[in-house]
Amino acid sequence: MAPKTPISLSFLFLILPIFFFIQALSAPNYNYNYQKAYNELSYDFYDKLCPRLPMIIRYRVWAAVQNDSRIAASLLRLQFHDCIVDGCEASVLLDDTKDMKGEKNAPGNVKSLRGFEVIDDIKADVETYCPETVSCVDILGLAAREAVYLVGGPSWNLPLGRRDGLTASKKSVLEQLPSPKASLENNTAKFTSKGLDLKDLVVLSGAHTIGFARCVTFKVRLFNYKGSGQPDPDINAGMLSDLQSMCPNRNDGTNANLAPLDVVTVDRFDNEYYTNLISGVGLLESDHSLMADSYAAHMVRQYSYDTNLFYDDFAESMLRMSLVGVLSGRDGQIRKNCHVVNVDDGY
Ligand code: HEM
Ligand SMILES: *[C@@H]1O[C@H](CO)[C@@H](O)[C@H](O)[C@H]1NC(C)=O
Ligand SMILES: *[C@@H]1O[C@H](CO)[C@@H](O)[C@H](O)[C@H]1NC(C)=O
Repeated sequence: MAPKTPISLSFLFLILPIFFFIQALSAPNYNYNYQKAYNELSYDFYDKLCPRLPMIIRYRVWAAVQNDSRIAASLLRLQFHDCIVDGCEASVLLDDTKDMKGEKNAPGNVKSLRGFEVIDDIKADVETYCPETVSCVDILGLAAREAVYLVGGPSWNLPLGRRDGLTASKKSVLEQLPSPKASLENNTAKFTSKGLDLKDLVVLSGAHTIGFARCVTFKVRLFNYKGSGQPDPDINAGMLSDLQSMCPNRNDGTNANLAPLDVVTVDRFDNEYYTNLISGVGLLESDHSLMADSYAAHMVRQYSYDTNLFYDDFAESMLRMSLVGVLSGRDGQIRKNCHVVNVDDGY
């Protein structure tokens, strides 16, 4: 009997690595089970349940952009911040309660995220025509898509039927949200932990072709870059002096002053973001850091001279992002009010 153990053990040592290798090859490259989510959603999910939905989205987003063109950027960012932290489940829309510190008031979101009222307006209309049917998370995705399209960007496939989450966590934001001051490596790790990759990061950062950033988010580059006592040597000189006068070297109200993320065409969704990175007028440290990585810089150059490639890849990555951590079927709920979880959840 004695010799049998070593034989079966060595057999195990041989077979286990092969087993795990084959598993790794065949498993989809998505921690959050992209394929399952995709299978459970459908493009015609609300066609019969809420035929007015597309019109409501189109009208409300159009009206909001007419009133304030920046809102297009804010809606797009709202969806990103929802999806990248604990998945797309409208957790970012939940207000804090006495038992729950949510995402809204976490660093990176507080005094920064905008567009909540637009989602509320859409939800109010939707509840009038098709009550308790359309999730807040689908509204968020549809509104972001409409917003980008309205300011000249691409549109993309968005399968529907996501359900709203039951909790939100400030701690998750601290752990999962990329930071403008972090290295590309660290921010990429936050994408890969969601089943997204460096390419998704490069193409989705192209969203910074619209919208604004507060001085406090890029000031590290203006006066004392990496402890050198000097500005970031890579910033274009003209832009540096503009930014320094807009964002003086002191900690006061000027920290909230706004600079355009795309200094050339801030209100238009185009590929100018990439051209800017090449000419040294990218705004955030996280934007500029793309140029220091050879793969990312290669993508940047490609997108800077091929708008269609950027649009196609952006559309594909938005679809991938919209599937991160999705609840479907009987999971989660359809919130009646996007700010709070339903108390009498009968599902
Ligand atoms: C490496 C990842 C990213 C980092 C570090 C980052 C960081 C930032 C920062 C610091 C701001 C300015 C916020 C403020 O001033 O309060 C900003 C704005 C913005 N971000 Fe990102 N971002 C990233 C990726 C993305 C992605 C993937 C999207 C969307 C697909 C996006 C869309 C936007 C938009 C549209 C704005 C302007 C919002 C407005 O004007 O209201 N960002 N981002
Ligand atoms: C118009 O935009 C401003 C600035 O974002 C906002 O304060 C205001 O509530 C908006 N008004 C409407 C009717 O949406
Ligand atoms: C990257 O992440 C590591 C581990 O969390 C941290 O120690 C380091 O300071 C981060 N570096 C940057 C530049 O973000």
